[in-house]
Amino acid sequence: MTLAALLEGLPIPIIQAPMVGATLDEIVVAVSEAGGMGTLAAGGLPPADIGPAIAAIRSRTSAPFGVNLLMAPKADPAVGEVDAALARLAPWYAEAGAPLPEAPNQFAPDFEAQFEALVAAAPPMASFTFAVLPSAQVKRLQAAGTYVVGTATTVAEARAWAEAGADGICAQGFEAGGHRGHFLGDIEDSLVGTMALVATIRAAVPLPVIAAGGIMDGRGVAASLALGAAAVQMGTAFLLADEATTSRPWRRAAQAATDDPTRLTRAFTGRYARGIENRFMRLMHGVQDAVPAYPVQNRLTQPLRAAAAKADDPELLSLWAGQAVRLARPGRAADMIRAWWAEAAEVAEALRVRTRRGQETE
Ligand SMILES: Cc1cc2nc3c(=O)[nH]c(=O)nc-3n(C[C@H](O)[C@H](O)[C@H](O)COP(=O)(O)O)c2cc1C
Repeated sequence: MTLAALLEGLPIPIIQAPMVGATLDEIVVAVSEAGGMGTLAAGGLPPADIGPAIAAIRSRTSAPFGVNLLMAPKADPAVGEVDAALARLAPWYAEAGAPLPEAPNQFAPDFEAQFEALVAAAPPMASFTFAVLPSAQVKRLQAAGTYVVGTATTVAEARAWAEAGADGICAQGFEAGGHRGHFLGDIEDSLVGTMALVATIRAAVPLPVIAAGGIMDGRGVAASLALGAAAVQMGTAFLLADEATTSRPWRRAAQAATDDPTRLTRAFTGRYARGIENRFMRLMHGVQDAVPAYPVQNRLTQPLRAAAAKADDPELLSLWAGQAVRLARPGRAADMIRAWWAEAAEVAEALRVRTRRGQETE
């Protein structure tokens, strides 16, 4: 089988995006069981937890699912950089009533060990974000029976994944919530909208493309398939799902989102990510270029964000969400994907009627 055939065979070609901090295995199982495809966000998991997490999903569904890893660079902060970053964060920790953490000696789970756990567990699909895997690692996963999907924010990144031997590309448009997946160019060179990105990657690379970014309902699903996507990957649209682990203040902020609520920020993690603007983002904006690169800043703000979530305070929390967050609705994930797929069919039918009418009057 090929990845294209797997995606073509899905009853509903909707992939639930991996979302560190907002999803665990509950939503993965719900979406896969309902005919879509769930994705486990394993980026933050210690290597030893990856096998058991995949086994737990397998014990609850025989349907295909994916697992995502974040390819964080090795943390290499300069002398004094961590202390300076902690000093900058001290007033925020004081405001949250949480102790300023000690300088940690590990900033992110070891990627190579995570990768070995992934190969051993061999999920049906694995996706990767923030870099491109060497082709030898792509081949190892494929030999284990796993389709490999690379996240790309530009055509050049899609080509890089195709050259590495990937089975498919997740095209992440500028609209997307959470971290930007760029790895070849600067952030300014990696801000292509989903519509342009899906169509241009389709033209450049002979692999199935999964469209991501700004897709919130059946209209976006239909539009993406019309552009040539083999499936869509939706994140923000699941933030309010019953099975999501989105914290209370984050849910409230998503539900209260107005017209144009999101911005890109580097302040929380040292890597650009899109979220609903809050006080931390606004006040840190001027110094965001000075914070240590991901994953260092990410690790240094983790206890602050955990304290804020516990205190029900949305102002000190990373409220990751995409540009179209105001369209997010609560509900059961299974009901959501069935409704979106029915809506996509309605949209396609309305377009068929509309285009036929246009041709008849010519
Ligand atoms: C809260 C949140 C967390 C995310 N975490 C991850 C992640 O762990 N790995 C990843 O590849 N993408 C992650 N993303 C990005 C999604 O995979 C996807 O590109 C994005 O959600 C699509 O755009 P949308 O949010 O407009 O649907 C995250 C997105 C959000 C909103």
